[in-house]
Amino acid sequence: MNPLRLLLLVLLFCAKTQAQELFYPELKALGEPALAPFEFGVASGDPLPDGVVIWTKLYLESNQPEEVSWEMATDTLLQNLVQTGEEKIYGTTAYTVKVDVKNLAPGTTYFYRFKHNGKFSPIGRTKTASQNADRLRLAVVSCADYQGGYFNAFAHLAQRNDLDAIVHLGDYIYEYGVWRGGRKRMMKNRVREHIPDKDCTELKDYRTRYGQYRLDPQLRECHRLHPFIVIWDDHEIANNANATGSERRLKDWEARKAAARQAYFEWMPIRENPERSIIRSFSFGNLAEMWMLDGRLEGRSRQADSLNDPSLPSPDRHMLGQRQTDWLLDGIGHSEAKWKIIGNQVIFSPLNDSKVFDRRPSVRLDRWDGYPAERQRIFDFFYKNDLKNIVVITGDVHTSWAFDLTADPLDPDVYDRKTGKGVVGAEFVTPSITSFNFDEVVPKIVACEAKRRFKKKKNNPHLRYNDLTRHGYFTLTLTQERAQADWFFIKRKDRVDVRGKLKASRHILADGRKVEK
Ligand SMILES: [Fe+2]
Repeated sequence: MNPLRLLLLVLLFCAKTQAQELFYPELKALGEPALAPFEFGVASGDPLPDGVVIWTKLYLESNQPEEVSWEMATDTLLQNLVQTGEEKIYGTTAYTVKVDVKNLAPGTTYFYRFKHNGKFSPIGRTKTASQNADRLRLAVVSCADYQGGYFNAFAHLAQRNDLDAIVHLGDYIYEYGVWRGGRKRMMKNRVREHIPDKDCTELKDYRTRYGQYRLDPQLRECHRLHPFIVIWDDHEIANNANATGSERRLKDWEARKAAARQAYFEWMPIRENPERSIIRSFSFGNLAEMWMLDGRLEGRSRQADSLNDPSLPSPDRHMLGQRQTDWLLDGIGHSEAKWKIIGNQVIFSPLNDSKVFDRRPSVRLDRWDGYPAERQRIFDFFYKNDLKNIVVITGDVHTSWAFDLTADPLDPDVYDRKTGKGVVGAEFVTPSITSFNFDEVVPKIVACEAKRRFKKKKNNPHLRYNDLTRHGYFTLTLTQERAQADWFFIKRKDRVDVRGKLKASRHILADGRKVEK
């Protein structure tokens, strides 16, 4: 054979092989052919006063560079175009299209779409950050396990027209393979199965897993209609992830982290940066500023082995690490915004669970309770600078909570529930979209008893609300006068059903000293 021809054939073979390696082939059956090649939908995120990131991904089995054009307008018919552009995309990023659109107007709703080979994507809706608004409303979500239920909470959010953005605090995917065996109660709640049927460890696994989630029509529609501000928690990588490993002390940790990080940046409408860091802040004029933290990969020390671990109180143990903590405190210290929002993975407030989890202290060790010295440094800064109006928003625990934000609720010298002494703001915790909570692990009667024990004033005097059995999200509404969390719970998750209701509200007034009903 002509050597040139042979070379061409080899190249063609390699190209085909490489193209087929982007995703597991089982994924294809979940896509809607009518949307091709935009089966994964469109998304937007990281709104700034003058810019926003728009995203799509082509579901292609080529390995050629491809061209995609995009347009953005102020109307739903895309007549009043404000910007257009063209992008070249590659198989090396699994045909991700991410455009950081600039020079936009603040607090403005925009519509956008993409075009490839004469085919249009669905039209997305997004919004830039407002600068002079009287009100800001964010929806706060976390923990969406595909196997644990249908994404009705995302569908509920998609119907709303009153949101500035959705803040996703992590566990966007779960890395596990298909649940088999294990607790009977959890198995009962497995309504569908993960692809691939194994734990994600390599790039192709993570890519496929995100692809499966994004082929879910309810999640896809939510992305189409709202800008997201995202951070990862542990399950985007592996359970109880920290900077040096996870619960399983994996040998290939650095490679796994790199694969998980790459897939995350390919799939999320997050602004690109050279370090692929999720640490960043957002400004909403003089009303609010928000710092998004990485409490997993940036600087987190390995979790303590037990409550008796002598290293537990050490100042050398970090959740954020020195660099990130300095950045956070510097930002908050200089902020002129009324509300200082901290977007964070795990419960920040001290939580006394000794009467509930006495046989499972590891649950506590993954929270800020497992990193007390660094937390104290943050509280000391708040107290020293007489800061108020701090609002921590949190995911991870699959349950709903509201706390007076204080360094030590059990020390009367630090905190007083009645007078609000020692309170710098509030912490609000979002339930899971679908991931199992108490009554899916233990009988409901045990869950109710746990709720009662948590709420006892002598155990947690700073606790102002908790719910351990329902799923959904909360909205955080900020005005110059108050910060209010409204919990919306969905009716069910074992089948597609978009019904959901407002079930609880808690707020703190500006310069207020307690979370109120
Ligand atoms: Fe979770």
